[in-house]
Amino acid sequence: MIIGTVKEVKKKEYRVGLTPSSVSEYVGHGHTVYVESDAGINSGFDNADYVKAGAKILKTAKEVWDSVDMIVKVKEPLAEEFGHLRDNLILYTYLHLAACEDLTKALMKAKTDSVAYETITLPDGSLPCLKPMSEVAGRIGAIEGAKHLEKPFGGSGILISGVPGTERANVCIIGAGVVGVNALKMIAGMEANVTVLDINLDKLTYLDELYGNRITTLYSSEANIEKAVKQADLIISGVLLPGGAKAPKLIKRAYYKDMRPGSVIVDIAIDQGGSTEVSKMTYHDDPTYVVDGIVHYCVANMPGAVPRTSTVALNNATLKYGLMIADYGLDAAIKISEPLRMGVNTYHGQCTCEGVCQAFDMPYKPLRQD
Ligand SMILES: NC(=O)c1ccc[n+]([C@@H]2O[C@H](COP(=O)([O-])OP(=O)(O)OC[C@H]3O[C@@H](n4cnc5c(N)ncnc54)[C@H](O)[C@@H]3O)[C@@H](O)[C@H]2O)c1
Repeated sequence: MIIGTVKEVKKKEYRVGLTPSSVSEYVGHGHTVYVESDAGINSGFDNADYVKAGAKILKTAKEVWDSVDMIVKVKEPLAEEFGHLRDNLILYTYLHLAACEDLTKALMKAKTDSVAYETITLPDGSLPCLKPMSEVAGRIGAIEGAKHLEKPFGGSGILISGVPGTERANVCIIGAGVVGVNALKMIAGMEANVTVLDINLDKLTYLDELYGNRITTLYSSEANIEKAVKQADLIISGVLLPGGAKAPKLIKRAYYKDMRPGSVIVDIAIDQGGSTEVSKMTYHDDPTYVVDGIVHYCVANMPGAVPRTSTVALNNATLKYGLMIADYGLDAAIKISEPLRMGVNTYHGQCTCEGVCQAFDMPYKPLRQD
């Protein structure tokens, strides 16, 4: 198979789909790899690194898109890339289609077969190719949240840990999944008061056993969310519904009037539409906006800020499934691998992801393995 990667075009996105190490794995399996010139430069990999790994460098993104069987990216194609979509092309990347109707329609119209990293699902429901970026986003979320509490960034002016003789910040983490656990790891290290909410009691039990009385865990009922949010200086949301569905709007605007002005919401679930009623996507160069005195941080590509870490962590997870597609072809690979079948979001012009079909009221036709 011919595989390629291109430079990401999303604003302030510095990751790249393939590392030189992944390139040499594909080449070692007998595949050909094309890389757009300087595609990996922001992640610390120059053209010479890719050539050494066995790739051929092509000058433009168009040359790569036009000559490959599978394109491996990081972020979803933007409108300016829709012209590259075509039949007989496999797109392997993050897609988050439930928040992106125009891309869903473009993929279906072009009959591009797309595999979304975030819906590749293991039998226990975990998401192996979302996990590394959720780990990064949860940790960045804690750092950015603490930073935006500072007055010059629009925050209420509380130091997350306090100092002896002053109050610590109250932090509310909604969702005790990968994002939540990683945010908690950092926030607990910064010694704030933390409350963690989830509807999954097993996850809360695990955290309760791990952190003891250093944290409070609460079942995520509407009443508990309201109480915890109103008391919080910083809220970090990492909720996710299974099957690629839109994020639930758990944080109501009505709560804001009872919150301290300058409190911060880091809405990490923004890539699935966000978990407040006023969430809208922001970028690293202007990451926040204020609604009713509350600072909202809604960057949808948080790991893009630390590409040297994120590109490697991402490839560690995505290479396995990418190689399956390359070695067997998509049709045979989904017969062998149920997790990969769950990753297919569009196939031969049909939407094959239940959560996406629900989001846009489209008929859902599951992709069968037989
Ligand atoms: N903004 C970014 O740059 C970025 C980066 C990585 C991941 N994400 C996003 O972060 C979100 C979380 O990802 P994850 O890997 O942690 O998912 P996960 O599946 O590991 O965790 C999601 C958690 O949400 C919980 N949940 C579901 N409904 C809930 C409710 N009503 N109240 C409280 N908790 C509830 C689930 O039980 C689960 O524990 C996803 O939307 C993901 O795409 C964003």
